[in-house]
Amino acid sequence: MKNFSIANIELAPSGLQKLDWAWQYMPVLSSLEERYSQERPFEGIKLAACLHLEAKTACLLRTFSRLGAEVYAAGSNPLSTQDDVCAALVKEGIHVYSHRGMTSEEYFSYLKNVLDCGPEVIVDDGADLIATLLEERQDLIPNVRGGSEETTSGIKRLKAMEREGILPFPMISVNDADSKYLFDNRYGTGQSVWDGVMRTTNSLIAGKVVVVAGYGWCGRGVAMRAKALGARVIVTEIDPHRAFEALMDGHEVMTMEAAAPLGDIFLTLTGNVDVISSNHMAKMKDGVILGNAGHFDVEISKADLSSMATDVYEVRPNVTCYKMASGNRLYLLGEGRLVNLAAGDGHPIEIMDLSFALQLMSALHILRNHGDMKAGLYPVPEDIDRMVVSTKLDSLGVALDRLTSAQEEYMEGWKE
Ligand code: NAI
Repeated sequence: MKNFSIANIELAPSGLQKLDWAWQYMPVLSSLEERYSQERPFEGIKLAACLHLEAKTACLLRTFSRLGAEVYAAGSNPLSTQDDVCAALVKEGIHVYSHRGMTSEEYFSYLKNVLDCGPEVIVDDGADLIATLLEERQDLIPNVRGGSEETTSGIKRLKAMEREGILPFPMISVNDADSKYLFDNRYGTGQSVWDGVMRTTNSLIAGKVVVVAGYGWCGRGVAMRAKALGARVIVTEIDPHRAFEALMDGHEVMTMEAAAPLGDIFLTLTGNVDVISSNHMAKMKDGVILGNAGHFDVEISKADLSSMATDVYEVRPNVTCYKMASGNRLYLLGEGRLVNLAAGDGHPIEIMDLSFALQLMSALHILRNHGDMKAGLYPVPEDIDRMVVSTKLDSLGVALDRLTSAQEEYMEGWKE
């Protein structure tokens, strides 16, 4: 039986070149691979992953494989899958099921293909792999020791499963580690969203009115970088603390209703649904650019865009024009999917080095400790979180002060 399904194996050389490029900027992941290369702690372990299949993630999957795991991987988004990277992974002995532009039906059938291996460890991004396991392959649950989840939206789904009492094994919430959200969500999204928008549109950002929906870790990063590029930033929020924080950071804060006629570029990063819908679209100017960087393609209502448009056509790769009855053109980037991945290469390599080191060490933690862990959601152990960021600082040659014994004693006195 063929145990992979990709677009074209002939694309492997270009994919391998991309992996080589990324790998040289991943000192943390490569030092961990080196550290465990003799021991091969994943020897014979079946590992199922659902991740964005681009070069950096491919490095993580290859590390799992080099440390002994039998890796089965599906792409977590039809537009973030890079076909040459998939081909390279197959050459590296990884069972890949994905191709760029896969339909929703193909996506779910690929998830099932991956689960067919009978995984012992799961590495998820958005929690679709776990959800599919619960819905369709309950028979495989006893074999699963646990796993890890990468993103905010996936963690929300796992928390809901935990509340309902249906999360069947321990899962580590990689997203909530300090070494993840402080850097990946904020600086990673902050840079890569603008990379995606600029390379797709070739638009000037300076002087534009940029509307950022959601001032969480991702929204903060995107707004910060927009300001640095010379844009005037409007933030929309539902949470009063976050809204006030945006105000203190120097941005304007208002409702989406009020921002709709003002914005030139709209970016959603809320993890919520219908953040931009028909009543907002009706008020927007001609030529506005709409992009989403939240995990699912539900933040900008594509149904509303389609029903309001008199004509829909692609104007540039990854830019769809929705022409309204008024004559106004609204441009949607990357079909409303994560713009930094659908229309770019995703987060900068050095940022993902941290996130993937956390993924690797979380999977190892599960493998070694699952017997003592009840079903449920766990944080990344603090020693792993600190080790990952410390290794990063070491690789950059950045030294930290150490507490003197007098300082340690002084601090001890303040402990409860
Ligand atoms: P977060 O929970 O820190 O922030 C989300 C913010 O959106 C919150 O402040 C919330 O109050 C606000 N919000 C919710 N509904 C809203 C609405 N209708 N209007 C305005 N604001 C609203 O989450 P984080 O970490 O910033 O992640 C946001 C989304 O981005 C998630 O879906 C996450 O999975 C995704 N993500 C995407 C990445 C990428 O590469 N594009 C990287 C990391 C996360």
